[in-house]
Amino acid sequence: MPDADFTIHPVSPTLGAEIRGLALSRPLGPATVSALAQALDRHLVLVFRDQALSDADLVRVSRHFGPLDKAPITENGRLHAPGYEEVYVISNITENGRPIGALGAGESVWHADMTYLETPPYASGLYALEIPAEGGDTGFLSMFAAYDTLPDALKRRVEWLSIKHDSTTNSGGCLRQGFAPPTDVATSPGTVHPLVIAHPTTGARALLLGRRPHAHIPGLSVAESEALLDEIWEAAVRPELAWHHRWRVGDLVMWDNRWTVHRRDPFPDGQRRLMHRTQIAMPVDQRRTGAA
Ligand code: SIN
Repeated sequence: MPDADFTIHPVSPTLGAEIRGLALSRPLGPATVSALAQALDRHLVLVFRDQALSDADLVRVSRHFGPLDKAPITENGRLHAPGYEEVYVISNITENGRPIGALGAGESVWHADMTYLETPPYASGLYALEIPAEGGDTGFLSMFAAYDTLPDALKRRVEWLSIKHDSTTNSGGCLRQGFAPPTDVATSPGTVHPLVIAHPTTGARALLLGRRPHAHIPGLSVAESEALLDEIWEAAVRPELAWHHRWRVGDLVMWDNRWTVHRRDPFPDGQRRLMHRTQIAMPVDQRRTGAA
């Protein structure tokens, strides 16, 4: 990569790379930004260690990748960093008896961000301000690798199917504000996407699974859909394909939300974890990505 003023160090066989040599608190030139966007496209997850970022820095760095979404509505309402509507707070910390962020200290199951929307974000950035002594690692998995690992018969079976992504609960299993608990996955609220999508330039195929709870495959009975979704998740989302990041304060991790899923380990609720997240909107030319 000719103009880049950083080096790239892959962290697993399927995805993820550590970027060394950049202090993101300083302005980034266009050649660096373009090289970082290429690195994100290639490695799907980028890790920047030992950063010292204010919320303004986090927003500036994230905006190099595209326009930012506002913080989403969570189980505790719309929680953003003071003065920054684009900076979503993920934390188990409470102040004056109220949570300052989302997701608490529990497990967050495998998911891609906000695929219950028609146009989910293209990428996310997560910056660590406080981390617990144990637990709270974040795992990532390439959905290209997940698709590739499917048996051929299952690939053929899912090729033309769609999947409804549930909008009622978050990855921590909590109801989003304003939604009722789903009682019938065939009719509960959500957005339907193709189950197999393709990279717009390479054509590589990936699964678009979102998250397992309350998903449904339109056209199948609930029992058939549950059985097929279980089979797909078991075949595709395998622990040996995943890579987990052990956080340090000052880490920024960016992931391409189109082609990955992520999850988070639980951690002791008596220990504080404080993360600030940005979401980069999907580019207009990539708003329909079905493989078919
Ligand atoms: C997320 O799912 O965006 C948060 C992951 C984490 O808290 O590590």
